[in-house]
Amino acid sequence: MRKISFTAPGKLLLLGDHAVVYGKPSLVAAINKFVTVTTSDNRVKESTFVAAARKLFEQKYGPIKSGFKIVGFDSRYGLGSSAAVTVAVAKTMFKLKGIRSTNKQLFDFCYRVVLNVQGLGSGFDLAAAIWRGVIYFVTGGKKIERLPVKQLPLVVGYSGVKADTATMVKKAAKLIDSNFLKVSQTIVNQGKAAILKKDWKKLGELMNINQAVLRKIGVSTGKLERLIKAALAAGAYGAKLSGAGGGDCMIALHPDGIQGKLLVERAIKQAGGEVLKVKLAL
Ligand code: PMV
Repeated sequence: MRKISFTAPGKLLLLGDHAVVYGKPSLVAAINKFVTVTTSDNRVKESTFVAAARKLFEQKYGPIKSGFKIVGFDSRYGLGSSAAVTVAVAKTMFKLKGIRSTNKQLFDFCYRVVLNVQGLGSGFDLAAAIWRGVIYFVTGGKKIERLPVKQLPLVVGYSGVKADTATMVKKAAKLIDSNFLKVSQTIVNQGKAAILKKDWKKLGELMNINQAVLRKIGVSTGKLERLIKAALAAGAYGAKLSGAGGGDCMIALHPDGIQGKLLVERAIKQAGGEVLKVKLAL
């Protein structure tokens, strides 16, 4: 049988973590960590998201005989491998049945899959996997706007701890108030303007404000704080956790030039982080 194959990227959350669960905007970046799904004659036991995507698809459009071979990046980092797998499998199934879908239809299908599996979430990671680049994203895909930017001076440090998104969202919910949501919304809107102007210094300042309010809702950790502090001391324009917190990765914006980047990377390593080489996926 002719093989069908689709690839989808992982993500980082630049601004708006947690608030994006509550109807507020966020800024999302798709990154060059990819999942590839290829049809296969072999049907093996499928992971939770693949099985849920198959189930929803088959309910709507009929059976899929094919299995899927999945080659991905390490799910341990919290860089959106589940969302990327869901998107690549969904695209493969639509293609197998010869069904054309817009990006928004694909998003809506995948978002339903995610809600079926974990019951909550904004869907920002699916938008990154589908649209790529840098996206202004509002909860559930109410607004999805790709921004005209081709690179960001990103450094990513893994804290060495795997976090559980659903647990962190439930924990944070107890401390999220209208002030948190208002601050988050304001910095995301200012962050969008900063990205459009390629004002990385301003974007960095906004990341620092975001980190301060995320710290207050109890989602940062000692290790994330150490990596963030080290990155800032080495000259980063800004640094924050990315995603739910409780572990996973922090991100920093390094000053112009290779030297600035190396200094921030070295500081993160010295503070006990694992530096991940990351670029935007366009
Ligand atoms: O932990 P991650 O990378 O899945 O990110 C979660 C981000 C939240 O805003 C906390 C939840 C969401 O679905 O937007």
